[in-house]
Amino acid sequence: MKILVINGPNLNMLGIREPDIYGSDTYDKLCRMINAHCDEMGVQAEIYQSNHEGDLIDKIQSAYGTADGIVINPAAYTHTSVALLDALKAVGLPTVEVHISDVSAREDFRQISYVRAACERTVCGHGFAGYTEAIDYLVNERTPK
Ligand code: DQA
Repeated sequence: MKILVINGPNLNMLGIREPDIYGSDTYDKLCRMINAHCDEMGVQAEIYQSNHEGDLIDKIQSAYGTADGIVINPAAYTHTSVALLDALKAVGLPTVEVHISDVSAREDFRQISYVRAACERTVCGHGFAGYTEAIDYLVNERTPK
């Protein structure tokens, strides 16, 4: 099984950006945690981060025919991007939306998620562990038995 993990803008700044909200652990640490978890689960992971909407769309499209599931934290594009929603719908893969912070308890403009309509699950406010929960969902509940 291969899972594509996609991270949107400013997530490369984890550890530096707003540590009161996102914690002080770095993006590199997040990637190492995801890779270690996938190794344990016997899953192949590809992790990708971009600050550019079009690049994120290209990456989602690349999953068609090559990946079995997507974990995506679209960051600020969550709240603005119909194009990301359309890309996820186009590839039609089981997808889980992840947010490190609890967006439901934050500003009004964060209450809209365009991508959610293409996602089977949303994990919010569980910190970095949200990514491993999302991977566990794809592996345990989506792998053909
Ligand atoms: C985020 C929440 C978004 O509202 C924000 O724009 C981010 C990160 C999160 O992981 O909590 O950049 O997706």
